Amino acid sequence: MTDQADIAQDSDFELPQVYKRHVFACSTQRPPGHPRGSCGAAGALPLWDRLGKKIETEGLAETGFTASGCLSFCKAGPLMVVYPEGVWYRPTTPEDIDEIVEQHLKRDQLVDRLAVVLTRR
Ligand code: FES
Repeated sequence: MTDQADIAQDSDFELPQVYKRHVFACSTQRPPGHPRGSCGAAGALPLWDRLGKKIETEGLAETGFTASGCLSFCKAGPLMVVYPEGVWYRPTTPEDIDEIVEQHLKRDQLVDRLAVVLTRR
């Protein structure tokens, strides 16, 4: 079995760890009434716009932000996930975004009231 150390040794180039953490925010938009629903239809896009801007304006250079495709729990949206912690959040207001930035991204503390645990049926 090859582990990360082996990959790094075998590689001709170095892959720097760019970010301390990385936020993926589902930006999939399906039409209104679509049976799967979507984070976009649930109001995600303005929230992610605020999140991306706050990460930039707060100078969180070690936090990556990616507007992602579907994260597979569409009816639970708007959904975002923070790695490496693997914490999923379901923010619904601009104030929720501000709280995630202030508490989780800046102070490394879980925002309990917005965290969700998702399970597949
Ligand atoms: S549309 Fe967001 S999880 Fe599928």
